[in-house]
Amino acid sequence: MKAIAKQALIIGATGGIGKEIAELLYRMGFDPISAGRDHKKLMTLTRTLGSNATYFVADITNYDQIHHGLLMHRDRRRKDGLENNLQVVVNASGVLHLNDTLESLKHCIDVNLIGTRNTLKLAEEFIEDNGHVGVISSAASLLTLPGKFGSYAASKAAVNTLCNHARISRALLVKNVSVTVAYPQIVETVMANSSEAKQHDVFKVFPHYDPKVVAKKIVEDMLAGKRSSFLSRRDQLLAFVARVAPVTFERLTLKHIERKIRTR
Ligand SMILES: NC(=O)c1ccc[n+]([C@@H]2O[C@H](COP(=O)([O-])OP(=O)(O)OC[C@H]3O[C@@H](n4cnc5c(N)ncnc54)[C@H](OP(=O)(O)O)[C@@H]3O)[C@@H](O)[C@H]2O)c1
Repeated sequence: MKAIAKQALIIGATGGIGKEIAELLYRMGFDPISAGRDHKKLMTLTRTLGSNATYFVADITNYDQIHHGLLMHRDRRRKDGLENNLQVVVNASGVLHLNDTLESLKHCIDVNLIGTRNTLKLAEEFIEDNGHVGVISSAASLLTLPGKFGSYAASKAAVNTLCNHARISRALLVKNVSVTVAYPQIVETVMANSSEAKQHDVFKVFPHYDPKVVAKKIVEDMLAGKRSSFLSRRDQLLAFVARVAPVTFERLTLKHIERKIRTR
């Protein structure tokens, strides 16, 4: 009997970690469905992901757009005589602002939080039994960092809470779907190289990780059905210390940044 091809939907696949995840899932035998806002980038990426790869253009903040995009994709497959078998849904989209304007907070909430809500809703409806959902949050949601990280960090902390609730929602529980939340530190992508980020002490002082390495760890943890994905034990330990001893963590972080800046 011929095995049914597994599909993986990656929202935010037009660059950075999402693009790496789409490429990795393709190499692992999935048919990737890439989604994002940039038609040209999606088309270029899809050409490199095998003949069964597809894409649709959608803004993650608009549920109707991503829902319609996936429905169209499923209809096309059916017409081509192929079965739908969505095993993986990843939200790799996101925005970062390092200021405290209301517009920035709203933008972070819109893309990071509402985008995750829309991803989870989509997964509830379309993902197959024993499937996997991956959501990229951020280490900033667990660590208190200086320098106007508040809007971004708050939106990502809300992402974590939303995923905790989705994990035990009836819709995903009955299908035995896992929800993995990833907590990367700084990753060498467009986001970490924005003019705002480049001037920021945290981005100057802490190491920048390779998006390929980060994508690999996220995919491994997601397919293993893990609840959380940390790049290393050190990252996990840092998050633990920040939770159990927040004052010590904040003091040590500030000292570390000051020392590093002074010795640069
Ligand atoms: N880079 C880091 O240091 C770092 C650290 C921790 C966590 N993260 C998180 O990792 C995830 C991926 O970020 P990245 O580093 O790969 O950054 P990136 O290269 O800037 O990629 C962000 C992706 O999100 C997409 N996106 C933004 N707004 C969207 C919208 N409204 N609808 C659909 N797609 C949208 C972008 O597509 P467009 O081309 O349409 O803008 C892009 O593909 C984000 O959630 C980010 O918060 C990043």
